[in-house]
Amino acid sequence: MENFWDKRYAGTDYLFGTQPAAGLIALEPHLVAGGKTLVVADGEGRNSVYLASKGYDVRATDYSQVAQVKAKALAKEAGVDVDFFLSDIYDARWSDEAYDNVVAIFIQFVPPERMDEIFNALARAIRSRGTLLIHGYTPEQVALGTGGPGNPDHMYTPDMLANAFSQMQITVNRAYTATLDEGRGHCGPSALIDFVAKG
Ligand SMILES: C[S@@+](CC[C@H](N)C(=O)[O-])C[C@H]1O[C@@H](n2cnc3c(N)ncnc32)[C@H](O)[C@@H]1O
Repeated sequence: MENFWDKRYAGTDYLFGTQPAAGLIALEPHLVAGGKTLVVADGEGRNSVYLASKGYDVRATDYSQVAQVKAKALAKEAGVDVDFFLSDIYDARWSDEAYDNVVAIFIQFVPPERMDEIFNALARAIRSRGTLLIHGYTPEQVALGTGGPGNPDHMYTPDMLANAFSQMQITVNRAYTATLDEGRGHCGPSALIDFVAKG
């Protein structure tokens, strides 16, 4: 069944570009090098393909079939293998596998009432001494209007992430502004947050 995101991804271009998120490039050195890595809500594959090209063993999931067709094409063009699978983040069987790295980039479709559920699921999917990497927007992004949902309650603050992952060892938790050039979807001055924690 076609969903909201299938429609957003219907163009021939890549909505967020084909290059990885700037935040992923910056934070990648914190990941378990070459580890088994889950990329959630991966969209058109720019982040999973980048990680596979760096030698990670990548599984990538999204619920948009349209996005995943484009993600597979991107992986083929880059000559890398990514294990793509379709799933709704709320239905995922999180306890089935454990990963060295779990990567969540711009998953701010998750509403505040379901954030704890998803944050807990992400943390549970990480092996002992594995890494959780989150990159997204802070509430200040709504006024900038250069990407993301128009609802500040969907965004993260450092305090919110520190509380949500207090059981982990947090190594990066910073809010900052930067200018993004990531396709039509994320373009212009942006209020961002980078977060890394160890399981
Ligand atoms: C802002 S995009 C980010 C995509 C990708 N992470 C990136 O940075 O290019 C949000 C993604 O979440 C996916 N998504 C939205 N709701 C979802 C759900 N319930 N389950 C799984 N994926 C979902 C969309 O299809 C979309 O690809």
